[in-house]
Amino acid sequence: MALREIRTYPDEILNKISKPVTEMKPRFSELIDDMLETMYSSGGVGLAAVQVGVLRRIVVIDVSPEADSPMVLINPEIIEMDGTQTGDEGCLSVPGKHGIVTRAMTCKVKCLNRDMEEVILEGEGLLARCFQHEIDHLDGKMYVDKVEGELENVYQEDFDEEDLED
Ligand code: NI
Repeated sequence: MALREIRTYPDEILNKISKPVTEMKPRFSELIDDMLETMYSSGGVGLAAVQVGVLRRIVVIDVSPEADSPMVLINPEIIEMDGTQTGDEGCLSVPGKHGIVTRAMTCKVKCLNRDMEEVILEGEGLLARCFQHEIDHLDGKMYVDKVEGELENVYQEDFDEEDLED
């Protein structure tokens, strides 16, 4: 495993649309391991392949407090959303910033796991927010375009574990 460089806004790759994965090649498996390592070492709760410069529809997420429950989503599609939540959001590709974004409160996703088996994942609250934020990345969309009000700076004294850096 290796850390990969995170592309940061306004790198134009972040606005490109990622391509589906049709078979689990060794280089994708290695990419997934590297994405997980990169996400954990950056203190994030989610990372899309485009953020490390690979235009493939692969997302890793871990919203567990112990950071010990990795999820791998390949070719994810949102199939159901319900309710709304308005809250703080950040992104490893926009370091030092955060802003308020309204998202669906619950979100159901159809995707493949890393064995390329179809699975349905259901999220609520932070996990639902994360699904929506990361799947936006696969379509070249950044949360900064959805922020209500101003994009704000993260100050060290404000930082706590509740801050979402995905
Ligand atoms: Ni992000």
